[in-house]
Amino acid sequence: MHTERKQAHLDIVLQENVQAKGVTTGFERYFFDHVALPELHLDQIDLGLTLWGRTLKAPFLISSMTGGTESARAINLHLAEAAQALGVAMGVGSQRAALAAGQLSDTYQVRRVAPDILLFANFGAVQLNEGYGLREAERAVGMIEADALILHLNPLQEAVQPGGDCDWRGLYGRIEQLVRQLPVPVIVKEVGNGIGVGVARRLVECGVSAVDVAGAGGTSWSEVEAHRQSDPLRKRVAHAFAGWGLPTALAVETVCQALPGFPVFASGGIQDGVEAGKALALGAVLVGSAAPLLGPATVTAAAVYEKFRAYQEELRVVCFCTGSQDLASLRRATLRRVANWEVLRGSE
Ligand SMILES: Cc1cc2nc3c(=O)[nH]c(=O)nc-3n(C[C@H](O)[C@H](O)[C@H](O)COP(=O)(O)O)c2cc1C
Repeated sequence: MHTERKQAHLDIVLQENVQAKGVTTGFERYFFDHVALPELHLDQIDLGLTLWGRTLKAPFLISSMTGGTESARAINLHLAEAAQALGVAMGVGSQRAALAAGQLSDTYQVRRVAPDILLFANFGAVQLNEGYGLREAERAVGMIEADALILHLNPLQEAVQPGGDCDWRGLYGRIEQLVRQLPVPVIVKEVGNGIGVGVARRLVECGVSAVDVAGAGGTSWSEVEAHRQSDPLRKRVAHAFAGWGLPTALAVETVCQALPGFPVFASGGIQDGVEAGKALALGAVLVGSAAPLLGPATVTAAAVYEKFRAYQEELRVVCFCTGSQDLASLRRATLRRVANWEVLRGSE
């Protein structure tokens, strides 16, 4: 069942328009001050960083997508080979299929083509309410020789699919318990609806090592699920959430401001290195992209490399034209926002 679902997800994302509708990432609201005289040589710009003992050539992440199907095997290898060549991080898709049935665990294994990348294992946080614990987390990490574990939060996706996992009670406690026991860092991410300040704060209290806001404006998982439904009522309910979620830029800005120094990853609808630059200037340490890399990943590693290398080159030009020699100086570059998102009621 998990295998069929993962294959359907790949087919739908590749063939249908599953972009969020009526909401954007919000990055179009931000502008850097152009520095007409940067006093730098373009070739001097250093995009590198070190995270959890791994050196990255650029602050990019191929976000968690797949595994557990035959076609996922080639996709993961293409993504990983490109990640190795580019010196960027990568996450595999949910390992639930392999953990449940021990099936197709090799479709997630990429270390032979990517020995040096920062690599993330993955399963849904809600699985911690379905019997998963330290043993499964250790198996997920060990299965792919990962450096860290990602737990994904996808309440909307679960709510709009038949048979979704809908008991999310008590999960902060379970995450906290896992974080205490697992010897590698635990990262918590959304899947395209965003993590806001309130949830991020509580996750920090649980001891997680990073949060990937995975905000709205890119792939919409309620749209993906809408395409899988035959029941008209379920289809309608899923489509109603096409514009749901915290825009990625808003999530990055507010979470980074509320939790200075805490590692925040930015993803969800990132289309190029200019948007990536804005996310980094807002305080993100890594910028992730998923769906834009899926098409190229069905072709060759070279196709993924070309697509993602463009992000890297664009980011280099952002640094040049903001007079930023490295990521630390990009974080100090002048960034303007054209309009505010005000809190209408409630607190953060
Ligand atoms: C085909 C596909 C499969 C995905 N599967 C997973 C998954 O198994 N686990 C996960 O945490 N996120 C998964 N995601 C979500 C992405 O990691 C990402 O958070 C989301 O797609 C938003 O990024 P984007 O707008 O760049 O696509 C998947 C995304 C795609 C496109």
